[in-house]
This record gives sequence, C-alpha cells and structure tokens, in this order.
Amino acid sequence: MPGNRYPMTVEVFPDYAAMSGRAAEIVVELLQEKPDAVLGLPTGSTPLGFYDALVASGVSLAQARTFNLDEYLGLPRTHPESYYSFMKRALYDRSDLRPENCHIPDGNAPDPHEECRCYEEAIRAAGGLDILVLGVGHNGHIGFNEPGSQWDARTRVVDLAESTRRANARFFNSLDEVPRQAITMGIGTILEARRILLLASGQEKAPAVRDMVESAPTPDVPATALQLHPNVTVLLDREAAALLHR
Ligand code: F6R
Repeated sequence: MPGNRYPMTVEVFPDYAAMSGRAAEIVVELLQEKPDAVLGLPTGSTPLGFYDALVASGVSLAQARTFNLDEYLGLPRTHPESYYSFMKRALYDRSDLRPENCHIPDGNAPDPHEECRCYEEAIRAAGGLDILVLGVGHNGHIGFNEPGSQWDARTRVVDLAESTRRANARFFNSLDEVPRQAITMGIGTILEARRILLLASGQEKAPAVRDMVESAPTPDVPATALQLHPNVTVLLDREAAALLHR
C-alpha cells in the first residue's frame, strides 16, 4: 500500500458515556481555538452520545461549518431515517448551527454525480475539514466506503454492502426498505481531513477495531487506510478495545 504508516493514538474508556464525553471535549477545544472550524460528522448509533455531550457543553456552533459523511440515495429528506433527519434530531435542532452552514449530500439531487462533485468543491471552498469524526462498520467500512473501495476515491455514489444493509435494517420496518445506494465522502476525501477522531463502542466492533489498528493496511478493511493519516485518535470503550494486543 502507498504512503507512510503512522501509529494511531488509541484511548480506551470504561464506558460509552466517557468515550462520548472525550470526543465532545476534543471538538469543544477545537471550537474554542477556532470558532469557525469545519467539522466532518457521522450518523449512526455510535455518535449519539457525542452529540448529546457536545450540546450539553453549551459550546457555540454559530460560526462552525459542518459536512456530513454520507446520505442514502433516493430516501426522501423528510424520511425519519434519512441522515438529514438524523442530524436535525441529533444536532441541528439542538444547537445554534446556522442552516446555511450545515452540509449533507443531497440523496435526491437530480444528478447525483454532479451533487458529489459539488460536495467536494464545497468542502474545498470551506478550506477543508479541520476535524472529521467517524464511526466504523462491522466490516471495517468508514463512511459508506465498503471493502474494496479505492483509497483515492472522492465523494461518489456507492452500492451498500448487504451486511451494511442488514446492520442498518434495525432502523427500518424491513430489510427491503433499506436503500441500496448512498452518497459518501471517499477515502481520499476522508484522508485529507486535518485531524480524524474515530469512535467505536461495543464488543461487536472489536474485530473491526483490531484490524483497523493492528492489521497491515488493506482495501479489504477500509478503516486500515486511516493508518496512512498522521493525526488519528481512536476513542474506544472497553468492549470495542477488547481484541487489541497492545
Ligand atoms: C455513518 C457512517 C457509517 C457508520 C458505521 C457505524 O455516517 O458513515 O460508517 O459510522 O456504519 O454505524 P453505527 O455507529 O450505527 O454502528
């Protein structure tokens, strides 16, 4: 694999609340230094506690800009499981973020490929991501970059792995309702963030966490690409850290 490998900073916490609090603390410190910071943000179960702690901190997001990692393709924005709806509940409606500063790919754009190009351009125009918060899938995906994704890939339309659709079916009435495609920042986009915070919680994430931190970088486990980034902090609860050797 191309590029230098860097050791990831790994912090392990006794529980999910402590891990989430630490993630919020890091983002609050950044916002105190740079109130107009550009934040890359995830959805999913993992970051819920982080958003709660960020809101509870009372930090102002009035000047911050946010870019979400991904969005389902073709799911109406108003659907409760769209990532836009998720972000409204988790953060937009609970903070002083300005709507014009909240960016999330439009999964209903008439030309999704043009939407992807414009999204990349908007990140660039904002000066790039100061910090990107990530979760990790059971199969090692980051964003919706599934195993086999190219490491120089940019924001694009992707097919969701069946295992990812099954994992996300818990939010829908049935597996059939889970969208088959999404727009996601690419691994190339992700690796350009100035700092990356990866959060993982629970024993079911332990194998992906072990591979991400300890295996040689391989496209079979997209999260191993993070070893090529010089400023990655991995925040784990004890269960997610259980299979780490060091
Ligand atoms: C979400 C995202 C995904 C999730 C991952 C873990 O925006 O990009 O990569 O971070 O699927 O999801 P949870 O946290 O629900 O286990």
